[in-house]
Amino acid sequence: MTRRAIYPGTFDPLTNGHLDIIERSAHLFDEVIVAVLLNIDKRPMFTTDERVDMVRRAAQWDNVKVGTFEGLLVHYAVEQDAQVIVRGIRAISDYEYELQMALMNRRLEPRMETVFLMAAEAYSYLSSRLIKEVFKLGGSITGLVPGLVEEQMRAKASEEAAGPGE
Ligand code: PNS
Repeated sequence: MTRRAIYPGTFDPLTNGHLDIIERSAHLFDEVIVAVLLNIDKRPMFTTDERVDMVRRAAQWDNVKVGTFEGLLVHYAVEQDAQVIVRGIRAISDYEYELQMALMNRRLEPRMETVFLMAAEAYSYLSSRLIKEVFKLGGSITGLVPGLVEEQMRAKASEEAAGPGE
């Protein structure tokens, strides 16, 4: 049986913390599908296509694929024939929300297991929200996101500075 895991998230943007979880999952499972959530409520910095593209370019392991989903995660996981949902946990503060999601997902789909990986120490304080904040306020994010993500953030900032075209 192919052991297939889903690693879901918003990835706005992908960080080195996410990438570390993807790499470690790729060693644990036969196949990993990074599932990018479509249509997030909060206005994202990057479009779905941009977020998918970033993950595709950064997560270059043979057994890692990238997909998109909307609606319930467990529906997507069943459709993809996955048995496991992977989530990274950084600090105890993540635990409560993650526990709620894992239990709700199990209630919705009892066959689905959630596996938690502890974030690498070096990235345990990282979040996409903080990355965006630090970047917007002119702080360095080098080493915290893949190089190609940093480039795309710079490109996006200069696009915004240039304003809407004619
Ligand atoms: O990167 P994030 O924002 O921490 O990811 C959250 C995500 C995408 C895993 C979660 O919001 C989700 O699964 N959304 C899909 C809708 C759903 O299934 N909701 C019920 C979860 S119990």
